[in-house]
Amino acid sequence: MDLHTDRPHPARVYDYLLGGKDNFAADRAAAQKGLEANPDSRIPPRENRLFLRRAVRFLAEQGIDQFLDIGTGIPSAPNVHHVAQGINPASRIVYVDNDPIVLAHARALLTSHPDGRTDYLDADLRDVDSILGSAVLSGALDLNRPVGLLLIAILHFIGDEHEPGEIVERLLAALPAGSYLALSHLTGDFRPEAWERVAAVYRKQGVTMRVRSRPQIERFFTGLEMVDPGLRILPAWRPDLGEPAGEPPTDAQVSVYGGLARKP
Ligand SMILES: C[S@@+](CC[C@H](N)C(=O)[O-])C[C@H]1O[C@@H](n2cnc3c(N)ncnc32)[C@H](O)[C@@H]1O
Repeated sequence: MDLHTDRPHPARVYDYLLGGKDNFAADRAAAQKGLEANPDSRIPPRENRLFLRRAVRFLAEQGIDQFLDIGTGIPSAPNVHHVAQGINPASRIVYVDNDPIVLAHARALLTSHPDGRTDYLDADLRDVDSILGSAVLSGALDLNRPVGLLLIAILHFIGDEHEPGEIVERLLAALPAGSYLALSHLTGDFRPEAWERVAAVYRKQGVTMRVRSRPQIERFFTGLEMVDPGLRILPAWRPDLGEPAGEPPTDAQVSVYGGLARKP
């Protein structure tokens, strides 16, 4: 397994920003450069994990018991299956990522409740066929029943040349009516220069980061019914009163939109 530890990888940089230990010197250096470019760089990952948990809880409460989580990241509990199986222990989750480090950790940490199931697929979002055609997916999820598709903080790693809109469309086309899309995405709407600097740091290391505007992110939900309150900067999406109190971050500090929508 080649972990490419000499260059930064998004999952490990993200892990470092969340305070995790599953990262290498190149990841820490990139994260530090990112922090210099934007000292609030730790806020988006934290808010993103909280959004992920609120979105999965909402879906589980709607009766969704199958999840396809693409861009899983290094596990940071509670993960999708903890939240979903906390509501319905029979929930099934397929985790997908293209990072070997995520794969290694996922196998060790993403263990299911005995009534449900967690599977792991090593695949690239840019190769939709490798996800939809995989035996792991068809073995774990019943695609005749609604699925919660999670694209949380992954699409900003997909450049326009890979047609992210088409990727989302093709994934949704394979899911039945009543399925949901939960999505979050970095935006440069509030601090374009700061995020351009962060993207440049990543670019130099060979990693695409493409922040997008609100209308560009809204387009990923074309043809779907938005769940209230629509696309919002993360802390404003169905805030949870149980989350740690304190001064809420500003929209500019968060700079990530999130939303959830149902396939009619
Ligand atoms: C910022 S992390 C987000 C993790 C998790 N979804 C969350 O919200 O906490 C992005 C994840 O997407 C994965 N990723 C990036 N590009 C990918 C691709 N083309 N295919 C599959 N996974 C990808 C990275 O390896 C990383 O684990």
